[in-house]
Amino acid sequence: MIQIIHPPKLVRGVLRIPGDRSVTVRAVLLGAIANGVSVVRDYLECDDTAAAINIMRALGVEIETIYNTNHALRIEGVGLRGLRPPTSSLYADSSGTTLRLLAGLMAGQSFASTLDGSAQLRKRPMRRIIEPLNTMGAQISGTNDCAPLYVQPGALHGIEYVMPVASAQVKSALLLAALYADGDVIIHEAAPTRDHTERMLAAMSVDISYQRPEARTQAADVIGSISNVPVDPAPAQGAGIVNRQTPILLRPLNMTIPADFSSAAFFLVAGVLHPKSRVELLRVGLNPTRTGLLEALRGMGANIHVHNSHFQGGEPVGDLLPVFSELRGIRVCGELTALMIDEFPVFAVAASQARGTTVVRDAQELRVKESNRIDALVDELRKMGAAIEATPDGFVVEGPCPLHGAVVDAHGDHRMAMALSIAGLIADGSTTIIGAECVSKTYPAFFEDLEAISYSIE
Ligand code: S3P
Repeated sequence: MIQIIHPPKLVRGVLRIPGDRSVTVRAVLLGAIANGVSVVRDYLECDDTAAAINIMRALGVEIETIYNTNHALRIEGVGLRGLRPPTSSLYADSSGTTLRLLAGLMAGQSFASTLDGSAQLRKRPMRRIIEPLNTMGAQISGTNDCAPLYVQPGALHGIEYVMPVASAQVKSALLLAALYADGDVIIHEAAPTRDHTERMLAAMSVDISYQRPEARTQAADVIGSISNVPVDPAPAQGAGIVNRQTPILLRPLNMTIPADFSSAAFFLVAGVLHPKSRVELLRVGLNPTRTGLLEALRGMGANIHVHNSHFQGGEPVGDLLPVFSELRGIRVCGELTALMIDEFPVFAVAASQARGTTVVRDAQELRVKESNRIDALVDELRKMGAAIEATPDGFVVEGPCPLHGAVVDAHGDHRMAMALSIAGLIADGSTTIIGAECVSKTYPAFFEDLEAISYSIE
C-alpha cells in the first residue's frame, strides 16, 4: 500500500489511541493459563495480538471477543497445566513479543511444539531466549538461532541469570518459564526494561518481587524474578522473589488496557513539532519503563502537559497534551535508551527539528527490530532532507533542518511507516510512503486517526 501525506495547516483533535500491544499480548498469554475467566477491556486489535490470540486458541483456550461500550476479550483460562498439544506449528506472524514470550511458556509444557513466524520474524535473533531457557532445562533448538523454534518437553529448574542485553521479551520469557520451574528464578537486567509482565503476575497474585523503576538507585540492577524458596525479601538493588504456592494458581484478570504510549508517541511528536497544533491523547499508559521519550522530549525543551493521572489495570495512565515547542539537541544514552527503545524512529524526526546536535548512543538493539532501524532511518530521513548519520550503536542528527516531501520506504516496519508520516506532516510538499500497510502490526487505524486530526485550513 502507498500512503500519501499532505502536510496539514492545522493539527487538532482528541484521540483515543488504541490499547497497548505489549500489555494485550501478555494478558492473552497469562489469561490463558489463569484459573478462571479473564475479562480484558480495550484490548488492542492488530496483527500482533491476533497472532497471540490464534496461538492460544490452537492450544485449546477459548477466547471470545465481546463488543459493547469497550470491546473486550473473554479468556477462559485453563490453568498452568491445562494447555492442549497443538496439531500444527504455532504461528506468531511478525510478533517478536508473542514468539519470545511463548517460548518461555512452551518450555514448561509436557508436550512438544514448534514456534514459527513470518519471513521478517524468522530473521530476528532468538539465541537470547534459547540460551537461558535451555540453561533452565528446556530443550529448544532453532535454525541458526532463529525461528522456527523446536521446543521439546523438559523439566525446568531455577536459575540466576545476568542478562547480556536489555530486553523485556527475554526477561518475560524467563518469568513465564519460571512459573513451571522447581526452583528460584532470579533475573538481573542489563538496564531497566518494561515491567508489564511483573505487574501482571503480581495482579494475578503470583508472589513476584521486583524493583520498581522509581525505587531504583542504580540502573544496572533492575531485577524481575520468581523463586519458590523464601529468600531475603529485600535484597540490595532489588532481587525479586516468588514464594510459590504449590500448585501455583493465577487469579484471572479483570482489567482495562491503557492506550499504547508507543502509538501515542507519533501524535505526541506531531503536537510538539507542528506550529499549529492542539492534540489531546486520552488515557495513555505512562508506565515509567515506557516513557523515556517523554523525558527526552522534555530534555529538548518540549512542553507536554499530563492531566487526569490515575491507575488503570495496574498501570499508570494520563491524558497527554503536547504543545508546539522550540527544541534543542540532546544526548540519549545508557538507561534512557532502553526506556524509549521503540520510539527512536519518531524521536529522529523530532531531532531533525531541534537546534544543534542530537546524539543517540547504546542503541545497537535498533539494528535487530522489525528493520535495521538505524540504517532505515538514515536512508529515509535523508531523502527528506534531514542531516542524519549512522553510528554503530545509534545515530547523530544536526538540526534544525527543513524537511521536504519525498518518496520514502517503510522497510516493512510499522514504526518507520508511522514516523515517516509525522515527518511528512511537517515537510514542505507531499510525502509518499511505500509499504505503509505494515502499520497493521500494531496500529491498523493509524492513517484514519492521522487524517482525523489533519486540517488543510487553519
Ligand atoms: C517488547 C519489548 C521490546 C520492544 C518490543 C516489545 C515487549 O523488545 O522493542 O516492541 O513487549 O516486551 P526487546 O525485548 O527485544 O527489547
